[in-house]
Amino acid sequence: MTQQITVQIAETKRDKPDQSNLGFGRIFTDHMFMMNFTEGKGWHDARIVPYQPLTLDPSAMVFHYGQTVFEGMKAYLTEDGQIFLFRPEKNMERLNRSNDRLCIPQIDGDFVIEGLKKLIAVDREWIPTAEGTSLYIRPFIIATEPFLGVAPAKNYIFMIIMSPVGSYYKEGISPVKILVESEFVRAVKGGTGEAKTGGNYASSLKAQELATGKEYSQVLWLDGVEKKYIEEVGSMNVFFKINGEVVTPALNGSILHGVTRDSVIQLLKHWNIPVSERRISIDEIAQAHREGKLEEAFGTGTAAVISPIGEFFWGSEQLVLNGGKTGELSKRIYDTITGIQKGKLEDPFGWVTKVPVSESK
Ligand code: COI
Repeated sequence: MTQQITVQIAETKRDKPDQSNLGFGRIFTDHMFMMNFTEGKGWHDARIVPYQPLTLDPSAMVFHYGQTVFEGMKAYLTEDGQIFLFRPEKNMERLNRSNDRLCIPQIDGDFVIEGLKKLIAVDREWIPTAEGTSLYIRPFIIATEPFLGVAPAKNYIFMIIMSPVGSYYKEGISPVKILVESEFVRAVKGGTGEAKTGGNYASSLKAQELATGKEYSQVLWLDGVEKKYIEEVGSMNVFFKINGEVVTPALNGSILHGVTRDSVIQLLKHWNIPVSERRISIDEIAQAHREGKLEEAFGTGTAAVISPIGEFFWGSEQLVLNGGKTGELSKRIYDTITGIQKGKLEDPFGWVTKVPVSESK
């Protein structure tokens, strides 16, 4: 795909938000990236334009049948003024896997990363610098063809919007409490669980709402068939440290291929800490807890980063981990991953992509 990306700069630049109170995903930068797909023409009209509402036909297919995919990425400003992206090519790979599952045309990942770099350069003043903050990046695709039949659309819009963010959870980086969900299910093998698509999140809302009402941050999903094996937490993959070994559910067709998940596995291997991806039942976790062998648990995700888990509630059993405090390993992983992301630590894995300084002026 060889396309020019046109840039239209916003006439007025808005004030930057107070970095001590960013929250997550409510504030957006001055510009956004867009391109269109038309059957027979492919992706075209790549452009950076002022952030603005969209005009869509009420019959646009995304509104009716949810043909849409998205990604989550982050950009960081280092202490010496460089801008880093973390493994953006992995997000593009996953976006194309999601596209395939949702019958959305493939995108050219390299081209999109170039567009993203330009967008970040234009809005670089929006990258927050306070501890625990970053610029969250949301690429997404929606089906825009006006049609009420159930079929893959012939027209799409691809967009990237960006939001300066703090912690995803109100707890910040303090441990979260998780409710093990035993009524509702998130996904089954053969469904769309592996894809990053809106429907997976829409179907999670009911369980999430009930969990929030009981003061739990998120739910832990079990498999959709036996409701026995652990899959993932609402917006993150999950890891457990049992008797010195770290385990995480194997990618089984219904679990999201987390980029942070993959990075944590690589990091643990690099440190020679035993780590395995396998099937883990909730009974095994509860038993390990009863025997005093469940040492730590944490979630991983772009938005959630590394989020320590202080408690699970399952049926009538309360599983408190590490006295409800952040575990040593969770902290070490958090410090290392965020250290690499923010350029404070060396990157032996080649995870960081720099946004060229000449573009970022
Ligand atoms: C991310 O971690 O980037 C996600 O997309 C999770 C989202 C549901 C907040």
